[in-house]
Amino acid sequence: MATIQQQIETLRAELHRHNHNYYVLNAPEITDFEFDRMMRELQDLEQAHPEFYDENSPTMRVGSDLSKVFSQVAHKYPMLSLGNTYSEGEVTDFYERARKMLGDEEFEICCEMKYDGTSISLTYENGLLVSAVTRGDGVKGDDVTDNVKTIRTIPLKLQGTDYPKNFEIRGEILMPWSVFEKLNEERAANEEPLFANPRNAASGTLKLQNSSVVASRKLDAYLYYMLGEELPCDGHYENLQKAREWGFKISDATRKVGTLQEVFDFIHYWDTERKNLPVATDGIVLKVNSLRQQKNLGYTAKSPRWAIAYKFQAERACTRLNSISYQVGRTGAITPVANLDPVQLSGTVVKRASLHNADIIEGLDLHIGDMVYVEKGGEIIPKITGVDKEARFMVGDKVKFITRCPECGTQLMRNEDEAAHYCPNDKACPPQLKGKIEHFITRKAMNIDKLGPETVDLLYNAGLIRNVADLYDLHPQTLPRLSRIGQRSATNMVEAIRQSTEVPYPRVLFALGIRYVGETVAKKLANAFPTIDQLKEATLDDLIHVDEIGERIAQSVIRWFADEDNLQLIERLKVAGLQFELSEEVLSERTDRLAGKSIVISGVFTHHSRDEYKALIEKHGGKNVGSISGKTSFILAGENMGPSKLEKATKLGVAIVNEEEFLKMIEGENALINI
Ligand code: IVH
Repeated sequence: MATIQQQIETLRAELHRHNHNYYVLNAPEITDFEFDRMMRELQDLEQAHPEFYDENSPTMRVGSDLSKVFSQVAHKYPMLSLGNTYSEGEVTDFYERARKMLGDEEFEICCEMKYDGTSISLTYENGLLVSAVTRGDGVKGDDVTDNVKTIRTIPLKLQGTDYPKNFEIRGEILMPWSVFEKLNEERAANEEPLFANPRNAASGTLKLQNSSVVASRKLDAYLYYMLGEELPCDGHYENLQKAREWGFKISDATRKVGTLQEVFDFIHYWDTERKNLPVATDGIVLKVNSLRQQKNLGYTAKSPRWAIAYKFQAERACTRLNSISYQVGRTGAITPVANLDPVQLSGTVVKRASLHNADIIEGLDLHIGDMVYVEKGGEIIPKITGVDKEARFMVGDKVKFITRCPECGTQLMRNEDEAAHYCPNDKACPPQLKGKIEHFITRKAMNIDKLGPETVDLLYNAGLIRNVADLYDLHPQTLPRLSRIGQRSATNMVEAIRQSTEVPYPRVLFALGIRYVGETVAKKLANAFPTIDQLKEATLDDLIHVDEIGERIAQSVIRWFADEDNLQLIERLKVAGLQFELSEEVLSERTDRLAGKSIVISGVFTHHSRDEYKALIEKHGGKNVGSISGKTSFILAGENMGPSKLEKATKLGVAIVNEEEFLKMIEGENALINI
């Protein structure tokens, strides 16, 4: 019979192997169901036996919710950039220069894709991932190890035995196109700002404080550069093949070639073929293969002489600008959109392009009828990058930004130091009114799924709704007569609206659509001001004292409650039965036993999960913080608290409280409360 420790270790080894089969080799041996079952079994065993904690266990992939500001780490070898070129002539120059400098010695070139993500440097010691650091300024970067551990294609523990004891491997963290598109769809539905391209989405994700959110974003990583004192081979390409055996994801689009002609064949092939890759690329990287020859060639001040990046021309099309439309958003912001003659670009037909704001239009000196250049690059919405002035013949008028709202005719405004124009008529401008109602019904707000933007439009046009309170006055008997909605849908719809009165207060607060009050801010506000009347009475000072509420949000809340119409809206919603207070259940469990305490959570726990401890801290008025400082009141420590944390705590004289002591403390049974 295997001991618990053996069982844990076998499960860990098996899960590491299946993980690699699935994510790197794309060749799973077991079903997802079986994988999940093994993972759960391991999680249970680890939870019951924290003495076998291992920071590189496959269970660490799910991330923790520990918030922390990243610490900065100096790179052992600086992270340099590459010389760039768009010209094939310069590729020839690079090749010939290398030949000359190597004194006509034979050399090979490793051709690779240039991945367009965010670069990362991983350090392995004795086969274990010990740190992951971003490029930063090239000399030092952010330690994002916890976040990187959630990326399934990055091995936490290497396979085989012939890896160097100490080495670094560098590569690119990427968000695959499919994940990026889905993420942006979700963000659009929540009215959150969209990521411009997968590169921004990947780097933004890597810098998130909460690694369980990082885990949900499904990042990927390709490795392309190994550094260390004892690398296995002299060939860069050969080292990468080794790295693949140890479990790293190395691109299949990597070739070692011996002639300049083969370099160009590689470039030409991938210029079109790259569109079929699951991740963004923006060029080719050429590297002299032998490390000995690389050393001979050396570096300029900024970049190696043994490598060059050949960048692909962003795909561009030329087409006619027919007109400009102006869209009005929920907050009144105006977005100009160019209507174009349809044109083929990177595999799709483009008919419209974003123009962002008035300054961009002015800068392009656009005239209706102009032939314009459209580019897609990594961006989701194509943009106009220039005008073919030579082709300007009999064009129409210069484009002048509108001065009145296209929907309601109100004079537009522009705040100083803001690029966007907006319509100030938030009381009657139809897209603003409809936009607010659409936000109110979304899943994360009131979740009235029997209503959608089309129904909102229908009800609005029938004159039945002008604000969110009107929804609660809709009647199933009169609806079919007043609109084109059938009896059955009307009944279901009104029932769904009625059910939304049970949605808890923090979500109602989010649903109101107060500017800058997103989901998280709404939760913070509801916790600090458990009834809407308390929130209404809050002063600027009261508001900015709430954790994570700054002046901008506070001002916006004050402005919202200063508007008489909003107060009337709340009164009507109260009559309709919406929740404007934290529930009795939530309130009765709250205490102020941890008021004023800043608490760091560290280690592995047995009675509750980390998330549950975080919620408990908040429920009892305390604040969960990420890193230990002189201001930390105490550390809630489970088993195996990290040695660096322990050292810091001892140095700063911060008290350490174990699980049992903490639970007694919040029950009010422990004198430690005076820490
Ligand atoms: S090698 C000293 N190989 O491009 C050179 N870089 O401008 C080390 N990149 O910061 C880099 N794909 O983020 C290398 N196959 C590849 C690459 C690559 C993308 C990025 C990397 C680097 C930048 C260099």
